[in-house]
Amino acid sequence: LKHFLTIEGLSKSLLTEILDTAESFAGMSEHQVKKVPLLRGKTIVNLFFENSTRTRTTFELAATRLSADVINMNIATSATSKGESLLDTIRNLESMFVDMFVVRHALSGAAHFIAQQTAPHISVINAGDGQHAHPTQAMLDMFTIRQIKPDFSSLRVAIIGDILHSRVARSEIQALNTLGAAEVRVIAPKTLLPAHVESLGVTVSHNLTEGLKDIDVVMMLRLQKERMTSALLPSESEYFKCFGLTEEKLKIAKPDAIVMHPGPINRGVEIDSKVADGPQSVILKQVSNGIAVRMAVMAMAMQKQGVTA
Ligand code: CP
Repeated sequence: LKHFLTIEGLSKSLLTEILDTAESFAGMSEHQVKKVPLLRGKTIVNLFFENSTRTRTTFELAATRLSADVINMNIATSATSKGESLLDTIRNLESMFVDMFVVRHALSGAAHFIAQQTAPHISVINAGDGQHAHPTQAMLDMFTIRQIKPDFSSLRVAIIGDILHSRVARSEIQALNTLGAAEVRVIAPKTLLPAHVESLGVTVSHNLTEGLKDIDVVMMLRLQKERMTSALLPSESEYFKCFGLTEEKLKIAKPDAIVMHPGPINRGVEIDSKVADGPQSVILKQVSNGIAVRMAVMAMAMQKQGVTA
């Protein structure tokens, strides 16, 4: 197997290998190395059926630094708008001698479907599917945490906000538990938590001020309005009052706690600008680390070193 579709079921040693490989690529910029020839002659197609700023751009940069040829499909101007099916789109792109698809899709399971249907020599990387998984986001977040707090076994991590609709939250919980975090705590209103959330391997709080106690890593999430029915949608000002991260509330966490957010951030909804741009924020570091981590995942998948579905 050579795909990277989900964190679920992957071993601690494989996740650690991804992080170690990413570390070797992260040093490239420091040493003024712009490119390595690992994927020279390979063709990678970015297939983003949903919008993206960070993921699409860092996948493209990562592929370029590995010397691959990269095609960014513009879905809005592709034949998809004329009714061509996902499978026919894939079949046609396969005929252009593609080696890897990087896929973002609004439907959970879309990347798995493509991995099942595509030619055996092609790797598929999930760049976010519906509410299901965003595995490279989780890995770049693990990489960012490890740079600052290397011992996962001592870490209490809070994931705050719209857990129900978040593919990021699911992948983060799986990665943190696999890497042995001391506690993964979700903090959210009941309406924004999945049923039986404890079965994911988390503790639960519905109160931000209580929930932030003893926390080393504060992960904020965006309200995924595009996935909500109007009945679920809370008032933004009410939400900020109860679950928005301010400087004052951040003081309840450990003094050296770091603040993370996968982006895009909604300032004044889930996070105050003073926190997002403040000294404890590593939000832009997460974005930079996306390049090295995506280089690692693509290189390992193409070298068939066992990154599996
Ligand atoms: N974190 C993330 O997936 O951001 P984009 O939607 O901009 O890719």
